[in-house]
Amino acid sequence: MNKELILKAIEARENAYCPYSNFKVGAAALFEDGNIYVGCNVENASFGATNCAERTAIFSGVANGNRKLKELALIGDVKAFTYPCGICRQVISEFAESGDMKIYIIKNENEVLETTLDEVMPGTFTKKDLEK
Ligand code: THU
Repeated sequence: MNKELILKAIEARENAYCPYSNFKVGAAALFEDGNIYVGCNVENASFGATNCAERTAIFSGVANGNRKLKELALIGDVKAFTYPCGICRQVISEFAESGDMKIYIIKNENEVLETTLDEVMPGTFTKKDLEK
């Protein structure tokens, strides 16, 4: 368990901009530079323009020069485990260092489920498929 990553995701959730769903999500992404980049969901009156917390965090890491995602922590609902949506799973797979990268699904500080990209997204479509 990466406690620091988990606590940063919980903290980032408080910054969620979600006036339409009122569903706060926070994420924290550990990249190859050793830094943790945080994100929250950012909604929009044009609903389709909404960005999920995981993508906010990952895009921030990438914008800071990173390309290899090592671990990701995520918290949505505090009464149930919220898994990353399909689009976020695809974005995680684009930058995942490996299929066994850890994903922490957080309900609260003391209830954290540990999974991997391969577990939540088997048979993922990646740049390798385009090289064939
Ligand atoms: N949301 C995330 O931030 N991440 C997910 O993986 C699931 C959904 C956000 C998007 C929207 O702001 C709200 O949760 C309700 O769908």
